[in-house]
Amino acid sequence: MVVLEDITYDALIYTLLALILMVCLSKRETLINMFWNMIQPPQSLDEYQRYERELRSAAAGYAQYSMLANYDLYRMRYKYGTMSRFHKNIGGALGYPKKLDTLAETIEANALITTQISAMFGKLSDKFSPTSKPSPQALERIRDVLKQFVREWSSEGASERQQTFPYIFAILEKIPIEARITTTVVVPGSGLGRLAWEIAQMGFPTLSNENSSYMNLAFRFLTSRTQTLQTNQHVIHPFSYWFSHQRSNSSLFREVRFPDVLPTLSPSSFLQHAETDFLNLEGEYDYVITHFFIDTSNNIISTIQKIHSLLKPGGTWINVGPLLWMTGAQSTMEMSLDEILQLSEMMGFTVHESSRQTIDSEYTRNELAMIRWIYEAEFWVATKGQD
Ligand SMILES: *[C@@H]1O[C@H](CO)[C@@H](O)[C@H](O)[C@H]1NC(C)=O
Ligand SMILES: *[C@@H]1O[C@H](CO)[C@@H](O)[C@H](O)[C@H]1NC(C)=O
Repeated sequence: MVVLEDITYDALIYTLLALILMVCLSKRETLINMFWNMIQPPQSLDEYQRYERELRSAAAGYAQYSMLANYDLYRMRYKYGTMSRFHKNIGGALGYPKKLDTLAETIEANALITTQISAMFGKLSDKFSPTSKPSPQALERIRDVLKQFVREWSSEGASERQQTFPYIFAILEKIPIEARITTTVVVPGSGLGRLAWEIAQMGFPTLSNENSSYMNLAFRFLTSRTQTLQTNQHVIHPFSYWFSHQRSNSSLFREVRFPDVLPTLSPSSFLQHAETDFLNLEGEYDYVITHFFIDTSNNIISTIQKIHSLLKPGGTWINVGPLLWMTGAQSTMEMSLDEILQLSEMMGFTVHESSRQTIDSEYTRNELAMIRWIYEAEFWVATKGQD
């Protein structure tokens, strides 16, 4: 009897230990998965807390995506409802109410992804409340992220990536394979990381950097081994919210799958990611690659100064992108191409005239829509002086 009791007692202890271990391991696994290759740049406590708040607000936005998107849908239903009975009969014959129902279905399908992104963050943050107020642009930010998944990580996005990526690869490919391990690259404004990942795949130790909390939560989801396990696992309907310029229902509502390749980061991967303001980065690198980035600066002078200070003497800056300054005078100076080139020289760069090209390129297009927005993106290679 005593022995039996001992055994039961031991069994209980072991079961408890096993349970505790399992909980710890699963928690540890999530932590590792999320911050696998994340580096924490030096920053003040204030800055850290600011970013934490932004992550919480973005995660709340993701949690409430369905509700926010449904407000728009309610308005559309309401507008439809204001028509006369006669017109509603015609609308009904055209299947318009059904079309709005389909929109509702695609919102729910997208919400499967957005709630996972939010829940993933929720597991890490005790202070997070999914019902707290998200930023006013939450819906717009999330729609941008969904389209960014298409651009960066779907096979449909390949043709868009092909418009600019090869110009950058052509420069990097000149570096012999064996020299790449000691050639470091920074990609600021990395979005969902495709360009940086491709460069790391070529054998360069690469640091991607992104300041947007919406992008960063989506990037964590994409690179998490518990969330994204196989290619084309996730399904979204990224274009369904915008009825303009659509040839058909099917192009409007079509699904896009991602990722076309598994961007899992491993400890041996050459890719590291820093979630912070570009201006917080430190260190010395061989290449800085700004791809659709410099015009997102609040202060273009600090940005170009930072690019310069992040480069080793003789280091190379590759730029490709338009000059789409943010609306509402968010930037302290909104420069022309000529001014930026002159500024770069003033900051100590030599911009190689022979490298300059103008590249027709698109950004998060809907390839089946009746509209195209083409940037004449400017490409150049510049080097930092040796002194
Ligand atoms: C558009 O789709 C809705 C359902 O989503 C359908 O009821 C309607 O008939 C479709 N219209 C056309 C022209 O295919
Ligand atoms: C990074 O994000 C914060 C908060 O949105 C913003 O205040 C800051 O200006 C951003 N940094 C840059 C370089 O745009």
